[in-house]
Amino acid sequence: MNVLVTNIHQLINVRSETKLLRGKDLAELPVIQNAYLLIENGLIKAFGDMSLVGSNQSEVQVLDAKGASVLPTWCDSHTHLVFAASREEEFVDKLKGMSYADIAAKGGGILNSASKLNNTSEDVLFELAWQRLNELMQLGTGAIEIKSGYGLSVDGELKMLRVIKRLKEKSPIPVKASFLGAHTYPIEFKGNHQGYIDLIIQEMLPKIAEEQLADYMDVFCEDGFFDPIETETLCRAGMAIGLKPKIHANQLNLSGGTQVGVKLGAVSVDHLETMDENAISTLAASSTIGTLLPTAAFFLRMPFQPARALVDANCAIALASDYNPGSSPSGNMNLVVCMSCIQMKLSPEEAINAATLNGAFAMEMEHELGSITIGKKANLIFTKPIPSVAYLPYAFGSNLIDKVMINGVFI
Ligand code: NIG
Ligand code: FE
Repeated sequence: MNVLVTNIHQLINVRSETKLLRGKDLAELPVIQNAYLLIENGLIKAFGDMSLVGSNQSEVQVLDAKGASVLPTWCDSHTHLVFAASREEEFVDKLKGMSYADIAAKGGGILNSASKLNNTSEDVLFELAWQRLNELMQLGTGAIEIKSGYGLSVDGELKMLRVIKRLKEKSPIPVKASFLGAHTYPIEFKGNHQGYIDLIIQEMLPKIAEEQLADYMDVFCEDGFFDPIETETLCRAGMAIGLKPKIHANQLNLSGGTQVGVKLGAVSVDHLETMDENAISTLAASSTIGTLLPTAAFFLRMPFQPARALVDANCAIALASDYNPGSSPSGNMNLVVCMSCIQMKLSPEEAINAATLNGAFAMEMEHELGSITIGKKANLIFTKPIPSVAYLPYAFGSNLIDKVMINGVFI
């Protein structure tokens, strides 16, 4: 079935070429005013100026966009969507003055989520994650990466990854899975870090390989969590079973995570709240993407990622939500884009590119998603009437999404 979308006010992020955007290229967001878009079997077949719509369109269903603007759906390349329960009690503790590190030290944080997850069945976890995923699709997310990391036991990690595998099978949007067994040390390994690293390498990874449960290897490279040497050892073990690194780096400290990620050819190093010149120039000289998670900085009341310095130094950046119960209990990518402009001084064009095409690169899905390009999936956001691209981050409190299309069908 072909669908011809007519009378699009602005068709946003139209490209004939798919390349990772960095430096000045990130600020170029190609738009066609008053456009049409032709979709065939869920894929983008053609697009252009309304005056050029072919007359020979008898086999198509015509869909009048009535002045909506259309852009590719968000590519959210960093989430922890599978979790057992919210943690608003810790949120209240933080309001009273405790830090993220204080809460972690008293058994809250990731360990709190791990104990809840280990007491929740796979079916319940799946149902909760499925509801969240559907909410995110309504908010315009059209591809997503999801991490394990709240199991911290062989059974718990495998259970989480199996939930993600079921989401992959059922979801109309593409899902990528990252194994984050090295999220923190479980209580029983508090005095025996090497024991837990051995458990990951000797017990978890072989089962993950056998059941093909993950695409990427993630490690929380941070002071008090996994140091750069441990991160490298773990990533190399993941790489040996085909998992490319995609790691948590430089969130709370200058952890060396960026450098180790670049050294290993990581797809991305994520967070980057705490960067110095060496970390920035190392990233800029690499093909590793720096994924910024502004809603996590916002929620933890930390300094925002130095997005301007990263872009100006020629780093390739992506934007993602980090959706998780501890540091970003929201997967709203519209808010991520707003916050990136308001708090990190990205231009609307830079933010949209980083949340679409560069996000697709950060999940290695750039040939399927991330721009309006012939042959890519028709995963599209139809906006309410908006005067311009800049209106999207400007009107930060409004839901400007009218409809979301996945594989050429409205959800
Ligand atoms: O990406 N920083 C490490 N992991 C998560 C938070 C996990 C949690 O607090 O539950 C993050 O922010
Ligand atoms: Fe994260």
